[in-house]
Amino acid sequence: MRRPFIAGNWKMNLNRREAATLAGSIARRAGELAHLDLAVCPPSVYLETVGAALSGGPVGLGAQNMYHEAAGAFTGEISAAMLVDLGCRYVILGHSERRHILGETDEQVNRKVLAALAAGLTPIACVGELLEEREAGQTGEVIRRQFDRSLAGLPDEQMRRVVIAYEPVWAIGTGKVATPQQAQEVHLDLRKLISARYNQGLAQTVRILYGGSVKAANAAELLSQADVDGALVGGASLKADEFLAIAAGAQRN
Ligand code: PGA
Repeated sequence: MRRPFIAGNWKMNLNRREAATLAGSIARRAGELAHLDLAVCPPSVYLETVGAALSGGPVGLGAQNMYHEAAGAFTGEISAAMLVDLGCRYVILGHSERRHILGETDEQVNRKVLAALAAGLTPIACVGELLEEREAGQTGEVIRRQFDRSLAGLPDEQMRRVVIAYEPVWAIGTGKVATPQQAQEVHLDLRKLISARYNQGLAQTVRILYGGSVKAANAAELLSQADVDGALVGGASLKADEFLAIAAGAQRN
């Protein structure tokens, strides 16, 4: 059985006080949500503050990005070891905003995934097609290419630790959520791909999250799909009630 996982991607939002308050509110009520993993991914400058507000409770701390090198002259970058040092368990890698706004390539994502795993972090590796790609019937091909390149060179025991997030780019921050059937179809394709590249047993253990306009009102139906193991939540993760209601939706299934 795959344990449901709900992660909040706060993106470049909130100030330090707001970040601490939000983390505190989530941490206080997380105890009601056994049987699933919860995590929040604040801006990196607030990781320490948010980590303190989570104070060793069940809610995991994650970063939104990192650099693949271990240390050195890389102005402005942050290493995997630094994230571990701050108490991070997770790191989102290859988010569509980084791919499309900041020009990150599959090859760069791959180097980051390998470095994150080597440091003991759990990467939340994102894949997802553009609207034009979906309309051109290329969704399967795009997802396969991103999977093969972004997650290249991972032995079984590393692949087992990866969390994949399927985030159709047209659904991110647009209010236009994928239908549960659209999500399930891609999640199942991803699982078949893992089975083909690795094996059936491993494919059954890897968690695949859906992301893109998830909110409390649509979460339960998305999360009821057989291959949807959780959600990566952007906008709706900035409100404790909404985020916890999404998590409660996962719990019910
Ligand atoms: P959204 O973002 O929930 O605001 O659409 C999801 C994400 O980018 O992870």
